[in-house]
Amino acid sequence: MAKFRIWGNRPLQGEITVGGSKNAALPILAATLLTESPSTIHNVPDLLDVRTMIMVLESLGARVETVDRGSYTIYPQQLKPLEPPYELIRKMRASFLVTGPLLARFGKAQVPLPGGCAIGSRPIDLHLKGFAHLGVEVSMRSGYIEGWAEKVHSGEVYLDFPSVGATENVMMLAATIEGETVIANAAREPEVVDLAHFLSLMGAEISGVGSDTVVVRGRKHLEGCSYTIMNDRIEAGTFCVAAAITKGEVIVRGVEYALLRSVLTKLEEVGVQVEKIDEYDVLVAMKERPHATNIKTMPYPGFPTDMQAQFMALLCLADGVSVITETVFESRFAHVGELERMGAKVQVEGRSAVVMGVERLTGAMVTATDLRAGAALVLAGLAAEGMTEVNGVGHIDRGYERLEEKLASLGASIERVSDE
Ligand code: EPZ
Repeated sequence: MAKFRIWGNRPLQGEITVGGSKNAALPILAATLLTESPSTIHNVPDLLDVRTMIMVLESLGARVETVDRGSYTIYPQQLKPLEPPYELIRKMRASFLVTGPLLARFGKAQVPLPGGCAIGSRPIDLHLKGFAHLGVEVSMRSGYIEGWAEKVHSGEVYLDFPSVGATENVMMLAATIEGETVIANAAREPEVVDLAHFLSLMGAEISGVGSDTVVVRGRKHLEGCSYTIMNDRIEAGTFCVAAAITKGEVIVRGVEYALLRSVLTKLEEVGVQVEKIDEYDVLVAMKERPHATNIKTMPYPGFPTDMQAQFMALLCLADGVSVITETVFESRFAHVGELERMGAKVQVEGRSAVVMGVERLTGAMVTATDLRAGAALVLAGLAAEGMTEVNGVGHIDRGYERLEEKLASLGASIERVSDE
């Protein structure tokens, strides 16, 4: 797998526009299967995870055409009630999001269990419970989920946890069921809202999305449509932290300020200058060492778990002790050991990490274990003295498009080195 070679301790300067949201693109690509007619999706980021999702759609018989850079037309007419390939589900858990559409299209689905990953066991019990509340008979057989949906009906689904994926899968199935389905304790993430906008354009009536109670009035036959994906708030947050950790000054363009409020507020708390230029552009500048603060990741609109690792890298350089509590995933601290190789001092106690800030980090050979851990190591390398090599860049390419090029355009000294 390729690696990044970074020469650190250089302030980032300039401006960067973020790309389409990975976590909006994946469910919306899956949702195109809900109808026989084609849909065209714009502003799709060119990421490994997106390519995997396209492979999943094609493995089920859909045809996917590249219309332009970032624009794809999906022709789902020839969709077959096939099983998505295990290796694709294993490679990317979000492939499980085709389950709702398959149940809706064929009244049945047989999908491999996604299994766990580096950040946790990632169960799907809430997806299955949600389907069951809508009349789907679900059984599990040697690593597969089998769902029978001949007798689907509208109803009320309560999610024990506001799971993003479960909300999305249930919403997609409900979008084809006449009558009123209520999803209580639904996820409020902006990417769920983006999916709801797409489903509404297809003909479903959805209200309350973005709150904890979503009401879906579905229609048996939905229509394909054209849609432009929202931009990626986590990519934007990552660049904001990059500006802060390198004591630079960067304008980050393209994401609604409100969607990043929790991250921007925390940056201000540690002494970063954050200036809202307009609704979609923010200036982030830092001159001195960050102060310590405490972070608790929560479902939206709380501090996003997908920004926890990146913010930890910043707090490793703070002038004090910070406590980071990860409430969303049970083991999302794999980046700690790698940050310690760069001189960070972090003590993990269960779901909390105590970060004792140090004056400086030093470059080292480190390895990315998952997408956001990899991003955190790149940020630490940008700030560290000397050279850092981040191995396992494939993890980073899953969620960041041309990260090294974008950082280099801001003055970072970073290059991609393919395996010798
Ligand atoms: C989505 O994952 C995102 N992925 C994740 O982003 C993100 O971290 C996560 O939401 C939380 O915001 C995509 O949207 C493709 P969840 P998802 O279901 O849907 C538990 C990234 O870096 N849970 O909200 O899988 C689960 O174990 C990725 O871009 C159940 O217990 O997240 C976890 O502890 C990483 N049972 C918590 O809920 C279930 O049936 C949150 O999971 C489902 C989830």
